[in-house]
Amino acid sequence: MKGVILAGGLGKRLEPLTHVTNKHLLPVYNKPMIYYPLQTLVDAGINEVLIVTGGHHAGDFLRLLGNGEEFGLKDLRYAYQKGERGIADALRLAENFVDGGKFVVILGDNVTNASIRPFVEKFLRQPTGGRILLKKVNDPQRFGVAELKVNKVVSIEEKPKRPKSDHIVTGIYMYDAKVFDFIRGLKFSQRGELEITDVNNMYLRQGELYFDILKGQWTDCGTFPSLFRANQIVARQFP
Ligand code: DAU
Repeated sequence: MKGVILAGGLGKRLEPLTHVTNKHLLPVYNKPMIYYPLQTLVDAGINEVLIVTGGHHAGDFLRLLGNGEEFGLKDLRYAYQKGERGIADALRLAENFVDGGKFVVILGDNVTNASIRPFVEKFLRQPTGGRILLKKVNDPQRFGVAELKVNKVVSIEEKPKRPKSDHIVTGIYMYDAKVFDFIRGLKFSQRGELEITDVNNMYLRQGELYFDILKGQWTDCGTFPSLFRANQIVARQFP
């Protein structure tokens, strides 16, 4: 099984920490942030990984992670996203790497102490389609929000002012290769990005979006409070 880590973007909300480095290289407790999503993939049995990054510090990922042998990877590759035009725009670059197969995506700023292995195993058993992992949070308006009815996702809204639920879509996605056709059909959103939420809604409309609830603790690191929370999650687990 292959995995893709999306680690582009500017990390603007973490200025000045991100002024001279990439957000995903910042420390979270005792390791660089990117180590955590990478370990999450490895712990799920994934040993071929593509890291998509961008900006002025892309070379630092290679210096930090090399060929990935420290993580026991069979193959670690890198791709460069020109500009910061969204998560789905970054994912586009994984098409050749994925080579028609099913794969797991994780955002480079997602930190969790939960295992995703059971969900990846379920995804492997599902013949086609996508699978997302949801989590209940206190501040859903910051995320993609899933509206649930009778244990089914009926819609996903990106950063709604009035969220229809407190279940948000974490940055851990599982897709078949159809995702690249969906991305080709996307239009840029009002904030000038190709939105992963639009991709998930395309799977939803086709009746091919499955979900699980992520157990354990999870956070992104996009803001100072969430970066702080990531440090707390890790510090509690590995004091
Ligand atoms: O963390 C989960 C959330 O991530 C989801 O609930 C949202 O639906 C999804 O849109 C995303 O929201 P954010 O506002 O947190 O996304 P952000 O722009 O902070 O990007 C998250 C990661 O995606 C970032 O750490 C690296 C990667 N990324 C982002 C952009 C905009 C790229 O690789 N390239 C990009 O151009």
